[in-house]
Amino acid sequence: MIASFARLCVLIILLLPYVLRAQARSSNRTTPALIVFGDSVVDPGNNNAIVTTVKCNFPPYGKDFINHKATGRFSNGKIPSDMIASRLGIKQLVPAYLGTELDAEDLLTGVSFASGGSGYDPLTSELVQAIPMSEQLNMFKEYMKKLEEIAGGRRAQDIISRSLYVVITGTDDLANTYFTTPFRRVDYDLPSYIKFVVESASSFVQELYNLGARRISVSGISPIGCLPSQRTLAGGIERECVDLYNQAAVIYNSELSKELQRLNHTLPGSRIVFIDMYTSLLDLMQRPEAYGFKEIARGCCGTGIFEVTLTCNSFTAPPCEDVSKYLFWDTYHPTERAYNIIIKKILSQYRSSLD
Ligand SMILES: *[C@@H]1O[C@H](CO)[C@@H](O)[C@H](O)[C@H]1NC(C)=O
Ligand SMILES: *[C@@H]1O[C@H](CO)[C@@H](O)[C@H](O)[C@H]1NC(C)=O
Repeated sequence: MIASFARLCVLIILLLPYVLRAQARSSNRTTPALIVFGDSVVDPGNNNAIVTTVKCNFPPYGKDFINHKATGRFSNGKIPSDMIASRLGIKQLVPAYLGTELDAEDLLTGVSFASGGSGYDPLTSELVQAIPMSEQLNMFKEYMKKLEEIAGGRRAQDIISRSLYVVITGTDDLANTYFTTPFRRVDYDLPSYIKFVVESASSFVQELYNLGARRISVSGISPIGCLPSQRTLAGGIERECVDLYNQAAVIYNSELSKELQRLNHTLPGSRIVFIDMYTSLLDLMQRPEAYGFKEIARGCCGTGIFEVTLTCNSFTAPPCEDVSKYLFWDTYHPTERAYNIIIKKILSQYRSSLD
């Protein structure tokens, strides 16, 4: 009797470290990596490595980045993917998957596959030779193989399932492809185009889930009618916000949000969250003084009315004097300061739903 009790004690003592370690593992809520898909909002330079007109690896882009370097990020400084990674304590910058030497640590903590000019609609990337979302998924598959070589199958799988996935795109589908070019309007009215884009977004998320992703955040689109470029193109002589475009964005966001909620409930073990970018950006536009902004209708680059990507360069006109007063860097992309305000707000709003 005593002997078997002693044996039991020895057994418990021997097993205890394993039990405790397993418990620590299951309660480990840290995010090992940030993995990013989408368009110019989160492209840290993938477009540098491909043939496309959607580029910005020249000054004054990157004016306020580390060493004032124009890395291919579409802003004056860091972009949302960098900000999310650093606020989650993962790393300071999320590198582009293409065009740079990535070491093991870079791969283990996540990369961005995003490409400026891309969208869920395949035509959107085709029009500007950006990397389509389907190809971004192919690059992700290749990345998973590399991760497995570095970390081994089990650890790679653990990283894939516990990482946070950030998907930010869709703006170019509506703002560029649907409203600016005539191609889609031949076959689709606005409601059917919105339905098409939402279905494409949904397929993308499901494919990502099928590859092992579980914590997926998908952004809606911004008030595209108030982008400086759209004010110039369709806002009349006063360059006002284009109501129709904003209404389209609201409808799209509402449909996308519903679809993502459906996926969240039907895909086992998933945390799929719709991120509302519209409201926070609109708030900056409606109450600029509350955030210290003086100019919300023009970009800081050049005249601020048309300059974006290739036309925003140091050969034409210099950027504005005080970028901190500007909501937009060029006619399409917010400044680093504006991005920081939005990301801070979004993370505090959604962080718990993604744990
Ligand atoms: C838990 O997270 C830490 C990072 O804070 C990491 O070093 C550790 O390997 C993780 N543990 C497991 C079991 O995944
Ligand atoms: C997603 O589903 C989980 C249950 O699986 C639920 O706890 C969570 O609130 C849902 N999130 C959203 C945004 O619907």
